Amino acid sequence: MALPAEGDALFPAPPSLARGAHVPSLAAYRERYRRSLEEPQEFWGDIAKEFYWRTQPSGSFLKYNFDVTKGPIFIEWMKGATTNICYNLLDRNVNEKKLGDKIAFYWEGNEPGDSTVISYSELLHQVCQFANVLRAQGVKKGDRVSIYMPMIVELVVAMLACARIGALHSIVFAGFSAESLCERILDSNCSLLITADAFYRGDKLINLKQIADEALQKCRDKDAPLRTCIVVKHLGREALVSGGRCGKSPPLKRLCQDVPTPWDAGVDRWWHELVKDASKECEPEWCDAEDELFVLYTSGSTGKPKGVVHTVGGYMIFTAATFKYVFDHHPEDVYWCTADIGWITGHSYLTYGPLANGATSVLFEGLPIYPDVSRMWSIVDKYQVTKFYTAPTAIRLLMKFGDEPVKKHSRKSLKVLGTVGEPINPEAWLWYYRVVGEERCPIVDTFWQTETGGHVLTPLPAATPMKPGSATFPFFGVVPAILDECGEELEGEAEGYLVFKQPWPGIMRTVYGNHERFETTYFKKFPGYYVTGDGCKRDKDGYYWITGRIDDMLNVSGHLLSTAEVESALVGHASVAEAAVVSHPHPVKGECLYCFVTLRDGHEFTKALRDELRNQVREKIGPIATPDYIQHAPGLPKTRSGKIMRRILRQIAKNDRELGDTSTVADPAVISQLFQQRCEAAE
Ligand code: WTA
Repeated sequence: MALPAEGDALFPAPPSLARGAHVPSLAAYRERYRRSLEEPQEFWGDIAKEFYWRTQPSGSFLKYNFDVTKGPIFIEWMKGATTNICYNLLDRNVNEKKLGDKIAFYWEGNEPGDSTVISYSELLHQVCQFANVLRAQGVKKGDRVSIYMPMIVELVVAMLACARIGALHSIVFAGFSAESLCERILDSNCSLLITADAFYRGDKLINLKQIADEALQKCRDKDAPLRTCIVVKHLGREALVSGGRCGKSPPLKRLCQDVPTPWDAGVDRWWHELVKDASKECEPEWCDAEDELFVLYTSGSTGKPKGVVHTVGGYMIFTAATFKYVFDHHPEDVYWCTADIGWITGHSYLTYGPLANGATSVLFEGLPIYPDVSRMWSIVDKYQVTKFYTAPTAIRLLMKFGDEPVKKHSRKSLKVLGTVGEPINPEAWLWYYRVVGEERCPIVDTFWQTETGGHVLTPLPAATPMKPGSATFPFFGVVPAILDECGEELEGEAEGYLVFKQPWPGIMRTVYGNHERFETTYFKKFPGYYVTGDGCKRDKDGYYWITGRIDDMLNVSGHLLSTAEVESALVGHASVAEAAVVSHPHPVKGECLYCFVTLRDGHEFTKALRDELRNQVREKIGPIATPDYIQHAPGLPKTRSGKIMRRILRQIAKNDRELGDTSTVADPAVISQLFQQRCEAAE
């Protein structure tokens, strides 16, 4: 498929979507964007008015300092106003908006056929009960609660119960190791852990409680005992459900297991026993807009994860507004975000944003290719999903299996497709657009970070003409700039550091327990700006293109290249499923390109293919980008959230076994495989 050159490839927003859209045209976007900058107080004030405030926002709506040379960095939105985010997500929707019977979540289990639904009023009851349990366990406003759970309804219940009583949740993705969980529990000094007995990821049994126990032992070894561990009986749940799912015929595979759960009666409590007698009413804790809502750890360049802190009021209005506009949400929508709640996408766009809008969502426990490679599309059809949000890594994975598994399902319900997490290469974008969305659904390529709380650069589906691979324009209230190495703002067509010039309500407020690290990481390099750490270019039409992390940039003979650009060129070849490119020291050029490529099923790695790939890159980017090394990679080292770990690939390229911390690698076996096959890379 011939790729349109950058700048030419404008895919208009589909006119059918403009009818009834919240932002129906580019002109409407521009007008609203202008207002968000010129009258921020009125703009965000109008959005805040849709929520319940115990004490209304008044006085100075926004106070901040972004300049380290002028004093400490701080950001305050609506300080002095009081509210409760859980009340706004649940009580307001049930009582004021009369959405009690509306489905909040369709829960779809790992195993097809295993599913449940939960309405807004039922969710409210469960949250109140669990909030009462937490209070009874001595959890108070400001305390930290660690949550280590699979993708089950109780995970949402647990986080909202924390929010209801003003405690901070610190969710640790259930794929992290005991070591990582312990490190995060200690860093924010959590007093309670919520976990589950066990779950299946595809056909792999994960005995979560056992890992949680290892983490707790490590905490004890460091003299930081945690008082209580609350355990959801998930895998062994059937015994608890009257006429349980096990009674169905034929019985669902793997559902009737009571895995042996290690138990310490002094610490462990079953969730179902605690909630049994808890009241379904629970007065929320009225919090200041600037009170802390949660901590979420994200990796840092020093290797020690940073606890990103978000606050109640700003995060609430920002996730609500971005969800409404970016997915053009309407009451009849069925929305599905495939991210795990353990990541920021699951916080903002599976929990807070959708519930703030009274949306109906799918909450999926399983994997995209289990039990078969068309699982995603069968779920889309089953629930008639209208808005679908996933990651480029998932798209490339599914692309590997061709069009047939997609096309055998209808997907007629789909209206908007979204992507997040890394730059999407135009080939994957086009496949998503043409095959999955049948050229009917716009793609919202949403650029944001754990730190930004919500979308900061993104198309709006009925308004923004799209360019494959571009996150297009800023969301309301967001002011991007591109800086050169000296911190000068570049105008017009330019490439450099992506920064933001002023705060939006959802920006993080601090690093938990280490405000100095917050200032150093994000504000020190270029005083007066929030520095994203991403490279970015702006084309002649003003579109923003993320070129990848700055540390993924490389300099070949004095030319700045982004690894993402080269990867996209490689993935453009019909035999390549995925590619990762790292810089490699070169005696003459300074740095050169070392490429790892994963092939699509049925393709073989030969010298002829290597030459073709080299030509492909040369043709797409220029001779300067010609790779020196191309190595076949049956698998790539990735984090459990699917990010390629280029740091490790750089060591493999150098044949250096000093790998540093490898605890976050999802499948460590691929590393030794790549070392073994390394010699093939050189000609
Ligand atoms: C990258 C995920 C290009 C970027 C929400 C950012 C993207 C990092 C995009 C944050 C996108 C995220 N296009 N790059 N649409 N979305 N990124 O904190 O490098 O897990 O800095 O937040 O992902 O990752 P995080």
